[in-house]
Amino acid sequence: MKPTHIEHIGIAVSNLEESIAYYENVLGLECYAIEEVKDQKVKTAFFQVGDTKIELLESTDSDGPIGKFVEKKGPGMHHIAFAVDNADNALKDIEAKGIRLIDKQSRQGAEGLKIGFLHPKSTGGVLTEICSK
Ligand code: CO
Repeated sequence: MKPTHIEHIGIAVSNLEESIAYYENVLGLECYAIEEVKDQKVKTAFFQVGDTKIELLESTDSDGPIGKFVEKKGPGMHHIAFAVDNADNALKDIEAKGIRLIDKQSRQGAEGLKIGFLHPKSTGGVLTEICSK
């Protein structure tokens, strides 16, 4: 398994509108999509920066993973996502190397990507996502 690029960086925010305004007005990026991912109880906003996206995540439910994260740590960097050719094969390879997975099989993420998370306890504290088309 070898990632082709950083697909996106996930950032937990407490107010999507305010954060979009920051990325647009200060950094000069353009929000090209807003999408709700019901499965993960989040609303996401996307910005393209070269090959990489910024994915803002606002919780739609305080019980969801982002809601809990923001309550515990406050808004900020949440995860880094690596693009691979085949997320399921990559997850198998990674698990075979003794890394604890949150998702043993890929599931459907935003933008129709196949995604799976590695457990931060196995990755030096960085919540890591593997994704493919
Ligand atoms: Co992500």
